[in-house]
Amino acid sequence: MKHGGVPNAVTSFVAVLVFLQCSCLSAEVVTCSGIVPMVYRNDKISITDFGGVGDGRTSNTKAFREAIYRIDHLRRRGGTLLYIPPGVYLTESFNLTSRMTLYLARGAVIKATQDTANWPLVAPLPSYGRGRERPGGRYMSFIHGDGLHDVIITGENGTIDGQGDVWWNMWRRRTLQFTRPNLVEFKDSRGIIISNVIFKNSPFWNIHPVYCSNVVIRYVTILAPADSPNTDGIDPDSSSHVCIEDSYISTGDDLVAVKSGWDEYGIAYGRPSNDITIRRITGSSPFAGIAVGSETSGGVTNVLAEHITLYNSGIGIHLKTNIGRGGIIRNITVSDVFMENMRKGIKIAGDVGDHPDENYNPNALPVMKHIRIKNVWGEKVLQAGVIQGLKNSPFTDICLANINLRGSSGPRNVPWKCSDVSGGASQVSPSPCAELISRSQTGACSIPF
Ligand SMILES: *[C@@H]1O[C@H](CO)[C@@H](O)[C@H](O)[C@H]1NC(C)=O
Ligand SMILES: *[C@@H]1O[C@H](CO)[C@@H](O)[C@H](O)[C@H]1NC(C)=O
Repeated sequence: MKHGGVPNAVTSFVAVLVFLQCSCLSAEVVTCSGIVPMVYRNDKISITDFGGVGDGRTSNTKAFREAIYRIDHLRRRGGTLLYIPPGVYLTESFNLTSRMTLYLARGAVIKATQDTANWPLVAPLPSYGRGRERPGGRYMSFIHGDGLHDVIITGENGTIDGQGDVWWNMWRRRTLQFTRPNLVEFKDSRGIIISNVIFKNSPFWNIHPVYCSNVVIRYVTILAPADSPNTDGIDPDSSSHVCIEDSYISTGDDLVAVKSGWDEYGIAYGRPSNDITIRRITGSSPFAGIAVGSETSGGVTNVLAEHITLYNSGIGIHLKTNIGRGGIIRNITVSDVFMENMRKGIKIAGDVGDHPDENYNPNALPVMKHIRIKNVWGEKVLQAGVIQGLKNSPFTDICLANINLRGSSGPRNVPWKCSDVSGGASQVSPSPCAELISRSQTGACSIPF
């Protein structure tokens, strides 16, 4: 059955609307609540108690370090809330501690200094073997948490501003000595909530939970210019039980990218990302909306992304890996996506390049299987999809259903392009590649939709 014609497209559009409405009205709204308990803290201190000044010029580095030292050493029952009143608090990078809430009032801004020369370094992540963009160590994230539990960053939509332009310019001029700092990183931590905060102008990735479990990120806004290099929104990395929802992300790179380490280092470290939920995300990116990869050497299992709205972007859904990565990417479900004005709707690729060094094992082939993409509606999508598996490790059980991606001038756009892939397709327009259609009636997809 062909689905190219306008009347068919209109019919399916109505069908999509009806479907979306029914699923919204009949089912209770599912949320991240419960993955990490929200804690209310009776012990409260303010950054101003430690000499903090919110005039945008005074350095608050000492105030942050002393306030957090106090929380760490007094260890009040139920933890402590650190209140940031309205004002602009300039500071160098700082470490959080366990059992604390960093609370930004309405109008509070925690602003990073631009003193790149004195920015502290931390060791490379073992699953990367080196910094992501430069060999050796990496600049510590602006707000950093290492080995923590029970940490909340929240408030009344105050702002964490990375003032990243100096870093972006160093990248553009190729004068970076080490890998740029993330805006917020939690490493080896659990029980983290990030909500009701605005993240702005990160030097590099915005929010990076790595080797973490039980992380909730909701009601956040993440903003960086479209031409800012590598300003990924949220990158769950070798982490499990991460839930991201109800957020607006518009940056210069992938909005959400699930990762798990890089080539031989990631394979040796062997820490997967699993049980990752991404829902009700809206935004725009010159690269991908929802991505898995390309660093997936520890494997990525059980990702659910649903109710995603993307516009003016590169690729809607991008699953990416490479020869030498190893790692199994499986059980990825993406559903209920609306996209408009995109270069590509869907891309699944096994050859994205980029190795940490020359010591990767060319026989370490990644595996990509059990991928479900369904209920996708696109307008002004230049190319519907590209699926390119690897000759010696074809992608299997790639299943597409109820997908309608219209081109910029009417329903026509660049056809699907596929190689080394098997799976099935049903109700996909424009018609996907023969590798998928020829098996559409045979129940080729192992998990029913
Ligand atoms: C912050 O944490 C990093 C990494 O754990 C550590 O190297 C650094 O010394 C800490 N900095 C301060 C000021 O405590
Ligand atoms: C903060 O922003 C979020 C996300 O945009 C919104 O849902 C929430 O109502 C805002 N909260 C406050 C206190 O303004």
